[in-house]
Amino acid sequence: MRIALGVTGGVAAYKAAELARRLQQESFEVEVVMTRGAGEFIRPLTFAAITGNKVITGMFGAPEAGPANVESAIEHIAVAQRIDLLLIAPATADILAKLAAGIADDFLTTLYLATKAPVVIAPAMNVNMWEHAATQENLGRLRARGVRVVDPDEGYLACGMTGAGRLAGHESILAAVRATLNPRRDLEDETVLVTAGPTCEDIDPVRFLTNRSSGRMGYALAEAALARGASVVLVSGPTALTPPARAQFVAVRSAEDMSRAVHKHLDPATIVVMAAAVADYRPAMQHPHKVKRGTPHQTLDLEMTPDILTETGRHKKNRIVVGFAAETERLADHARRKLKAKPVDLIVANDVTKRGAGFDVDTNVVSFFARDGAERDLPRLTKREVADQIFDEVLRLKSTFKKAHGRANAGQA
Ligand code: PMT
Repeated sequence: MRIALGVTGGVAAYKAAELARRLQQESFEVEVVMTRGAGEFIRPLTFAAITGNKVITGMFGAPEAGPANVESAIEHIAVAQRIDLLLIAPATADILAKLAAGIADDFLTTLYLATKAPVVIAPAMNVNMWEHAATQENLGRLRARGVRVVDPDEGYLACGMTGAGRLAGHESILAAVRATLNPRRDLEDETVLVTAGPTCEDIDPVRFLTNRSSGRMGYALAEAALARGASVVLVSGPTALTPPARAQFVAVRSAEDMSRAVHKHLDPATIVVMAAAVADYRPAMQHPHKVKRGTPHQTLDLEMTPDILTETGRHKKNRIVVGFAAETERLADHARRKLKAKPVDLIVANDVTKRGAGFDVDTNVVSFFARDGAERDLPRLTKREVADQIFDEVLRLKSTFKKAHGRANAGQA
């Protein structure tokens, strides 16, 4: 299989040489495409020596090779057609912005537009650039188009700062390449209903109660289910994320809206995963006008919202229902209690005070508590990896329940 490895201009560009070697070792034919910026960090000769292939450094052939000819001018189309995958590692903030906007001003960006092959990108940059709303918006747009993003690692960065932005390890990038080239289609017969994001409970026309959920966990679940062939309905509270293009997207605001949307779309669902951070309480009354400053003390009277997970579990039928548990202490005790109290098959518990877990980060640290008694702690993984693990567990539970059902029927006969 043939991979185009796009290398862009960041300090991590040198790591792409080892990545090219690892891809070669896995029997991929590697063609390297370097941006002008990449050439400031590493020489094309390095990649040519590793891959045994010509390295593409510009749109119209190397300037030293003389005037451009027709062959070099349309080479991006030829490369676009012959590759099985486009991998961009490291991907700078600049290339993410260009890809998101559809700008095609060099070979690599033109190749991205011209190819129908799947695309994997592994960003690497300064932590502030990574966390910038513009970068996150661009990543959201790319993810929504089906681009697989291998999130950067956290650690000491070349700029002297510490945080997220270090190019992911070669193993993670290679795993994403393998998974993209050999996609599992084991959810092809499933319709997955996912809830994501926070809810907003209005106090008056300008104020509301909400929480820190970014929606990333739920959107990663939707992306993973789509990649594995499922039909997906994504019911989401307000977030800054772009929903995956192939999901049926239902935007909601309050717990009440979310409850209505879940009930409306529940019937065809064979798997329900509730990752949303739903408000447990809402203002008992909404003021029609802005509440004015005046009295030194104000009391907000709250009432309970519908428990969507419990209601869904009550109409469970044969579907698998997964709930989350966001905890800040005694994770296992609380998760086991939730599993007992609610008619669900699996609780995915996360301690949201742990570093790299819970709200508004790209990774999560979760534990599974399953209806059949199985319990498992997972290491810190990207939310996309957690999502895949959840669906693996759902499929395991499905087959366990099916076998148990078969035995019960045989016993009756
Ligand atoms: O969105 P991110 O920034 O990526 O953050 C991810 C996350 C922390 C939101 C996610 O991993 C998570 O833990 N989601 C569940 C948050 C939550 O509300 O947990 P809980 O323990 O309060 O609720 C338990 C379960 O009941 C959840 O599945 C929740 O969706 C559901 N619930 C809660 C209240 C309610 N009124 N109705 C519900 O259905």
